[in-house]
Amino acid sequence: PDKPDITIFEVGPRDGLQNEAQHVGLNDRLKLVELLIDSGLKAIEVGSFVSPKAVPQMADTEALIDLLPRPEGVRYSTLVPNLKGMEKAMQAQVHEVAIFASASQSFSQHNIACSIEESFERFAPVMAKAKAVNMPVRGYLSCAFGCPYEGEIAVDAVVMVARKLIELGCYEVAVSDTIGIATPQTTQVVMRSVIDEIGAAVAAAHFHDTHARALDNIKACLELDVTTFDSAVAGLGGCPYAPGATGNVATESVVDMLAKLGLRTGVDIAKVNVAAAYISKVLKPSSAL
Ligand code: HMG
Ligand code: MG
Repeated sequence: PDKPDITIFEVGPRDGLQNEAQHVGLNDRLKLVELLIDSGLKAIEVGSFVSPKAVPQMADTEALIDLLPRPEGVRYSTLVPNLKGMEKAMQAQVHEVAIFASASQSFSQHNIACSIEESFERFAPVMAKAKAVNMPVRGYLSCAFGCPYEGEIAVDAVVMVARKLIELGCYEVAVSDTIGIATPQTTQVVMRSVIDEIGAAVAAAHFHDTHARALDNIKACLELDVTTFDSAVAGLGGCPYAPGATGNVATESVVDMLAKLGLRTGVDIAKVNVAAAYISKVLKPSSAL
């Protein structure tokens, strides 16, 4: 099949569901991934191997992966913060993993309980294991456009972490707007600086839609030749009582916008909408049932 113009990296089952207050059971997580596959998505982040105390929503990731189908061409990824997570990911035989670094010291401490420097010390043995078994590793770069604790983050700090992730061996850096604070202007400034350092081919963008600017930010990235975007079906994440309100940019909105711009993603909008409707129904507040 033709290579799509744009790769959609679906993070709903991970970034979306990890932020939903309502517990989503194994069968619903499985059904969601199956519907996403059916829509043509090829890269799906299905969960994470992190401390279940930190993120209880992802605790069943091992069991989920056991149940998942393995259709040709579909890649499953999971987050791993350390060697323990990497060992679980290898056991589960995911296709790839993602490490997650931050451009903000405070966010690094809050998210993974260590400094940026210490996080790279933890990632080194993860990468060594991945290389030994030929497993691709993606790198997230959180707080690239601002931090919930520190506010503004220096572009130099963002560029430095991007370079470190590539030097370590990540095949791609997902430059992440953790709190949905980016504008098309700051998107261009940060992405241009990162791309000057590592190249557009390995720079992906990960927008949360807190202030409803994610689609415009994606457009700003298209001008810089970025070809991979992260999104979550139904805009999952954030507010459990209003799916779509404050999570990742919604996959169906991204696919629709790109289609209107004449860019192919290989994703069927009608079928993504089926997946979105399914998970939205699961997350319906009990008072509205
Ligand atoms: P720590 O407390 O320093 O770690 O946490 P520790 O090594 O002392 O271990 C504490 C406990 O966790 C121990 O269990 C370990 O066994 C267990 P206990 O003895 O207390 O029963 N543990 C693990 N369990 C399962 N899998 C593991 C694992 N590692 C340790 N891999 C740690 C450090 C990194 C573990 C913790 O802070 C953590 O798990 N953090 C993950 C937080 C997280 O998942 N955040 C969300 C993802 S990041 C994100 O969403 C941003 C992104 O979307 C991009 C963006 O938008 O910016 C990617
Ligand atoms: Mg995120």
